[in-house]
Amino acid sequence: MKEQLAKIKSEALAAFDQVAAPAALDELRVKYLGKKGELTAVLKQMGRLSAEERPAMGQLANEVRAALESAIESASQKLEAAALEARLKAEALDVTVPGKAPKLGHKHPMYIALDEIKNIFVGMGFTVLDGPEIELAELNFDRLNAEEGHPSRDWSDTFYFDQDSRVMLRSQTSPMQVRAMDSMPLAIRIIAPGRVYRKDEVDATHSPMFHQVEGMVIDKNVTMADLKGTLNLLAEELFGKGTVTRFRPHHFPFTEPSCEMDVQCHKCGGAGCPTCKGEGWIELLGAGMIHPNVLRMANIDPEEWSGWAFGMGLERTAMRRFKIADLRLIFENDVRFLEQF
Ligand code: DAH
Repeated sequence: MKEQLAKIKSEALAAFDQVAAPAALDELRVKYLGKKGELTAVLKQMGRLSAEERPAMGQLANEVRAALESAIESASQKLEAAALEARLKAEALDVTVPGKAPKLGHKHPMYIALDEIKNIFVGMGFTVLDGPEIELAELNFDRLNAEEGHPSRDWSDTFYFDQDSRVMLRSQTSPMQVRAMDSMPLAIRIIAPGRVYRKDEVDATHSPMFHQVEGMVIDKNVTMADLKGTLNLLAEELFGKGTVTRFRPHHFPFTEPSCEMDVQCHKCGGAGCPTCKGEGWIELLGAGMIHPNVLRMANIDPEEWSGWAFGMGLERTAMRRFKIADLRLIFENDVRFLEQF
């Protein structure tokens, strides 16, 4: 019996040591320690032993059972640890594998041009303002010295919301001049980009909605030389060093004197070609010295302060900057077009 127990012990311990899966370990447990197991079978023979032999044999049997149980316990822990390690290995992330770059869109050509314009002016100390597209006619016209009866106030040109023509979709960004004068301390340097609306049919150069950038400076001793210097710099930054400009007299109700600035055609250098429609020059913006009436209506003394302002079409500028032939391309957002910038 002693030999039997020793044999069971050594066989079982060797088997537990080799076991590779929890199910196999369970089978071994049943085989040695189960009701019909080998150790139980030996214990059943105890009755045959003499009374002197029994206690020592009983103790030995208990020791064997304890040894098997603790071996099973440690084998089971080993299996669990191995399983955990295998699972962690399977779930491991290789952080050195290159990532999948998300597909980014990119800027619309008109906003590329706008960002360039903003950068140029912010670099000169201008503040960028945003303002309402639904505007009072008072700010869009009256406060800009465009009195009742001015042609641009006509119903055929302007989108009004009411019969009295008091509320409208702004037809220009110039009312931002008034908003700036009413809300900011002097001196003022601002640009104000945004949408404007006019009753135009859509064609290659017109749209009932388009964008302008307004600019305004009010300070002491501001002259037309400041206007020309700043706008020449704008043209060079946008279209390249050495860009030639010219200033032509013009009329706007809110500036006196008023002018338009043209840039010499980059294609033909002024000789005349299809790009500039034979003119040699391309119109870029309207500008002028702020009319004393406009300053007075904002409670600014024109004897003490002076200023200049300009307004430019953003689509037009982008079209020149990127040589886009048709305005409609700017709004259609065809990816095949947009991808080229
Ligand atoms: N508001 C004018 C337009 O829409 C453009 C303009 C001209 C703005 C002269 C100005 C300016 O500020 O001084 O045609």
